[in-house]
Amino acid sequence: MTRHHAVLDRMRDLTSTCIAVTGAGGFVGSRVVAALRARGCAAVLTPSRRDCNLLDLAHTAAWVQANKPDTIIHCAAATGGIAWNAAHGLDAFRDNMLMILSLADAACAHGVSHVTHVSTSIAYPSHTQPPFTEDELWSGRPGGPTAGYAHAKRLGQVVLELGSRSGDLTAAVVMPANVYGSGARMDPDRANVVGAMVRRFVDAASRGLQRVECWGTGTPEREFIHVDDVAEGIVRATERVTVPEPINLGTGRMCSIRELAERVASAAEWTGTIDWDASRPDGVPSVCCDVSRMRSQLDWMPAMSLTDGLREMVDWYQGLAEKL
Ligand SMILES: NC(=O)c1ccc[n+]([C@@H]2O[C@H](COP(=O)([O-])OP(=O)(O)OC[C@H]3O[C@@H](n4cnc5c(N)ncnc54)[C@H](OP(=O)(O)O)[C@@H]3O)[C@@H](O)[C@H]2O)c1
Repeated sequence: MTRHHAVLDRMRDLTSTCIAVTGAGGFVGSRVVAALRARGCAAVLTPSRRDCNLLDLAHTAAWVQANKPDTIIHCAAATGGIAWNAAHGLDAFRDNMLMILSLADAACAHGVSHVTHVSTSIAYPSHTQPPFTEDELWSGRPGGPTAGYAHAKRLGQVVLELGSRSGDLTAAVVMPANVYGSGARMDPDRANVVGAMVRRFVDAASRGLQRVECWGTGTPEREFIHVDDVAEGIVRATERVTVPEPINLGTGRMCSIRELAERVASAAEWTGTIDWDASRPDGVPSVCCDVSRMRSQLDWMPAMSLTDGLREMVDWYQGLAEKL
């Protein structure tokens, strides 16, 4: 299949189809639902885990058969921060595999025409050097504490390739970088690095603390994309892409952890001293996606600057913290 064939000549009109969003109550899924509604999609189904437990093949098949979505956007996942992943590698692998298998099985059996799978840039092999290009995805194994999650997420591509070979199913696979913004998971167990920093600096500002400790040396560089941009990228992939060839979703720009901390501190209007605990692990030195495929296939680049996005997230968390 050539790159040309991977993108529809005409966009799929999502306003006239019935779309189910899994994980619609989650951080990314809820913004995908908002983006679909903003486009005028009237028939958006938002099954909760109780309505459609994706760990259960029969339950998933029964829900798809009864509700007959034309398109499914798969945002449900078993996911968390580094510590959660380190402690739950096998759980993360099993649950994320079961979810995409149940969904693909049900989609093929009950006439779903398209599935978009939300994977992750964590799925790249550990040795990949930035910028990560999609052709390197299968050049080695993902490692470290997130390996269980990473293996399952990237195998979602294989599941959808097999599903789309056996029938009329089309599919898209997107791989977002670190996602941040209002609505992120903030519990210490599940928050990513941005959530953890926003929590720490907003709490320090409200309690008048003069010093805040951050893990590592601050030198690793990472890529961050705002949740509203990720939602737009996911919807664009659903409109335009027909084969499960992975597409990075990112800004193509790196920011060091030290710079991130300084930007979050500034957004929280906290002016104390940051203590870097270099005895804590740094992780890989640099993570950043090549965004040329995203730009050409989705005809789009993310809109939100890191400064504006962090301000939006800090404002949201300050409001949340005041209510506690
Ligand atoms: N957040 C990031 O930085 C990031 C980065 C790259 C990729 N992604 C990907 O983006 C997607 C969404 O992540 P997120 O951050 O939005 O996660 P999230 O906030 O934890 O949301 C996950 C959603 O999945 C649902 N879910 C979990 N197990 C389920 C099951 N067995 N059956 C049905 N629903 C189930 C959860 O429902 P409950 O509330 O009932 O558990 C929740 O609504 C995931 O595929 C993730 O891999 C996220």
